[in-house]
Amino acid sequence: MAHQPVAVRSPQDSTTQLPEDTTGLLTGRPARMDKRKDNTNFWRQIGLFVWALTATATVVVLGVLYQHSLSQPPKRHQRPIQGPDFSKTGKRNIIFMVSDGMGPHSLSLTRSFRQHRDGLEFNNTLNLDRYLIGQSRTRSSSSLVTDSAAGATAFSCGMKSYNGAISVLPDHSPCGTVLEAAKLAGYMTGLVVTTRITDATPACFSAHVNTRGEEDRIAEQQLGEYPLGRMVDLIMGGGRCHFLPNTTAGGCRKDTRNLIEDAQNKYGFHYVGDRAGFDSLKKGKKVKFPLLGLFAETDIPYEIDRKDSEYPGLAEMAKAALTALEEATKDSDKGFFLMIEGSRIDHAGHDNDPAAQVREVLGYDKAWTTVIDFLDESDVPGVLVGTSDHETGGLAIARQLGESYPQYLWKPEVLEAAKHSAQYLSQKFKDFESTSEEKIKSFVEKDLLIDGLSVDDATDEEIKNIMDHKEDSTWIFSDIISRRALIGWSTHGHSGADVNIYASDPSLTGLLSGNHENTEVGNYLAKYLDVDVAAVTEKLREKGVNKVKRDGTEVQSWPWMGRSVEESIEVHGDHSDCYHGDIHGHASLKRDGHAHAH
Ligand SMILES: *[C@@H]1O[C@H](CO)[C@@H](O)[C@H](O)[C@H]1NC(C)=O
Ligand SMILES: *[C@@H]1O[C@H](CO)[C@@H](O)[C@H](O)[C@H]1NC(C)=O
Ligand SMILES: [Zn+2]
Repeated sequence: MAHQPVAVRSPQDSTTQLPEDTTGLLTGRPARMDKRKDNTNFWRQIGLFVWALTATATVVVLGVLYQHSLSQPPKRHQRPIQGPDFSKTGKRNIIFMVSDGMGPHSLSLTRSFRQHRDGLEFNNTLNLDRYLIGQSRTRSSSSLVTDSAAGATAFSCGMKSYNGAISVLPDHSPCGTVLEAAKLAGYMTGLVVTTRITDATPACFSAHVNTRGEEDRIAEQQLGEYPLGRMVDLIMGGGRCHFLPNTTAGGCRKDTRNLIEDAQNKYGFHYVGDRAGFDSLKKGKKVKFPLLGLFAETDIPYEIDRKDSEYPGLAEMAKAALTALEEATKDSDKGFFLMIEGSRIDHAGHDNDPAAQVREVLGYDKAWTTVIDFLDESDVPGVLVGTSDHETGGLAIARQLGESYPQYLWKPEVLEAAKHSAQYLSQKFKDFESTSEEKIKSFVEKDLLIDGLSVDDATDEEIKNIMDHKEDSTWIFSDIISRRALIGWSTHGHSGADVNIYASDPSLTGLLSGNHENTEVGNYLAKYLDVDVAAVTEKLREKGVNKVKRDGTEVQSWPWMGRSVEESIEVHGDHSDCYHGDIHGHASLKRDGHAHAH
């Protein structure tokens, strides 16, 4: 409220010198502390007083106009939910979108990239830009820099927890999630992601384990193997490998269970496992619930590498999920809760790959528009809220390469010319078999750098660096492209930056406008649905047992959650601050013995 600070000021406060005070009035901040005590010039005082009144009135009018414009959402066909008392209203849907690892700079980068690529004017923005309402503060209970697990626990449970926590609190007791509360209240529920469905963000809505490395256990709980039973009606994404035994090609479980068979035989899921399976869903019109759609062994490829004929994209999956959930709830007095994650914006950040990242953000922007269009056309009131769990990479849209003062520019054309992600090129090099130094060099120079990145001026040192890292050269390709585009990164991990909050309709999400703690986003989701997350927490806590420790003290524990943090560290290694994501370790490039956490 820009006018408030001015309105409470007495006119005498304005008896300071012009024009400095102009700034003070317009910003509502006191501009000067050294007020003049000179009362000799009576007419000057009167003049200033009149001026101050006029300025105050102007600011009040501007403030009211501004508030008015905020209260005019983009036109919606749906009936708005009135007032703050969400318990008094009827059927509704909520879609929560997570842009994992997307900080404000990712938006600036992608906006300019798109304008450059498509020859658009500077005022032609991303769709997302129209829906910005605020910012979220992201720290976890254990660190000023969160990981995705603590970040998503803030959204799912509405509470802060430690890095690595999958919907458990710092005391290692389980906390109920908004998805579980929604399901128990009669809503239908869905999760749509582009990474493993067992990865931290989707896991936090549908499982409770002490560390994010417990992906085998997460997969079991997502099917319903825990005290609440099956809570998720629709699953679409990657991560087949944690559902298949280690004895099968494409399986990465540590046991011999086949959860894809169990899903169908024990839990009644309808399973689709590839592009043809996705197509058989007929854009969501032919979905049978519950649905388990696992379209990739691990991650769905980056947008820059993805072949439409092999893998569905985020917007397509989102559309199919919305269509299916709307149809399935059409005769119900309750709607649905759907979480959609642009999972791999984060991975491009970890890789420090700007060419991959801009395409990921555009994919997310497209999915966002798909949801907005759905809400516009739906007869059921609904809201879309989107935010990120954290920023990844410490992305900077500038880079100083040498000693001398830098020019002010960056080069979107470099990102446009890149045809593949650094990760793709690294894998292609790893798969290239030859013992001839000459052939390897030519492959790196021609097939990878020129054909893959359109980089024809690589230095001998850069080429040698790639050749020396056959196992994983991702970060080297990323650096080559980032330097030429003049894009900077400060880490291969996460940063502590605030992230943006977006919403489809500001009149329904006033509670989230401005700067908020990430837990408030989670609380909003439950409030909008009018569901009781605390009651679910109680229900889960009751499913514990009392354990007598060696020193005789009694503690409650929850054996169904699986390993304790200590046991989990023994099995998976310590990833409380730097989880290695089991398939994305950059062993050859690690500098400090840790790889990255998603
Ligand atoms: C951008 O600005 C131009 C000229 O000022 C205007 O004609 C056009 O409508 C604007 N476009 C958008 C998308 O706002
Ligand atoms: C699969 O897991 C079992 C049980 O942990 C183990 O004994 C076996 O060696 C594993 N097999 C493979 C092929 O990794
Ligand atoms: Zn991450």
